[in-house]
Amino acid sequence: MKSEPLVLGIETSCDETGVGIVRGHTLLGEALASSVDEHARFGGVVPEVASRAHLEAMIPTMERALDQAGVTLADVDAIAVTAGPGLAGALLVGVAAAKGYALAAEKPIYGVNHLAAHVAVDTLEHGPLPEPAIALLVSGGHSSLLMVNDLARGVTPLGATIDDAAGEAFDKVARLLGLPFPGGPWIDKAARDGDGVSITFPRGLTAAKDLATHRFDFSFSGLKTAVARWVEAREKSGEPVPVADVAASFQEAVCDVLTNKAIDACRANGIETLVIGGGVAANSRLRVLAEERAAKYGISVRVPRPKLCTDNGAMVAALGSHLVASGIAPSRLDLPADSAMPLTLVVA
Ligand code: KG4
Ligand code: ZN
Repeated sequence: MKSEPLVLGIETSCDETGVGIVRGHTLLGEALASSVDEHARFGGVVPEVASRAHLEAMIPTMERALDQAGVTLADVDAIAVTAGPGLAGALLVGVAAAKGYALAAEKPIYGVNHLAAHVAVDTLEHGPLPEPAIALLVSGGHSSLLMVNDLARGVTPLGATIDDAAGEAFDKVARLLGLPFPGGPWIDKAARDGDGVSITFPRGLTAAKDLATHRFDFSFSGLKTAVARWVEAREKSGEPVPVADVAASFQEAVCDVLTNKAIDACRANGIETLVIGGGVAANSRLRVLAEERAAKYGISVRVPRPKLCTDNGAMVAALGSHLVASGIAPSRLDLPADSAMPLTLVVA
């Protein structure tokens, strides 16, 4: 019997240089180099700094991943690379590297969508995704609800954020609380010592009038402003800011809306599987709340371990592996890096 395809994935869309190697649904090796510390003092990712760091990290990261998997480039059946969306210069480094490796080793190349890869990565932990499924995709740059009928051929957006992404809201609120960048993990941590119902922050697009037109859309900008006003008022009055309570109450507001809308999308479409992906899926409260609420309706929640939620190479390899297994044709060798690659396009 022919064994499942061995696929190598390369991720460079933001500040993580990731290489993953997957056979079927099994992760064989993975390496990650992050430039996050170089961006921290700017409070956000600096594109040029990220591109330069990818360039320096690419070859060593590739070598570490191959080593860990115990394979060589010659053993690989296909190379997948994030073609978009993401930072243009950062994407270019990964795409150019993937082309070089594909050409040198005579392998097919798949230029894949980073967001679809955030959904596909769950297969490494829980096996094939039952389709149709609803995907809640929550990262630093995107927040969407998707109908996944066939992940290899495209997804259908049901709704998305109309302003800030969920991760962006975490990062901005962390900043105003004086927590480091990226803020998500710090808010998560601070919130453990706080009370999530101590401050009532707004839940965007949940009022009846908004639900009529934005049932599956999100808005986090009003929440961010409400937190800023609350903190300002405290500071003005000379009272200390209860960082843990603010973090917990903010986190509760985000997770409340995300889980309610995701479960509503499942119920409205008669879907029993909810998969959650993207950096914010690492949030401990989101994971518990989604599980709790979904259980009431017999919906099963699939969310990969936190390390697979944030950007990595394994997610790209997982999607590549799914594409090869689904008989999808590879990309052309002149495939472009597309910083605005639409969610509906799985392969460039
Ligand atoms: O998917 P990702 O690694 O990169 C993008 O594609 O954007 O997501 C990064 C985002 C950041 O905004 C970060 O603050 C957030 O994910 N994040 C979290 C947690 N871990 C990472 N947000 C909330 N709780 C976490 N534990
Ligand atoms: Zn991402």
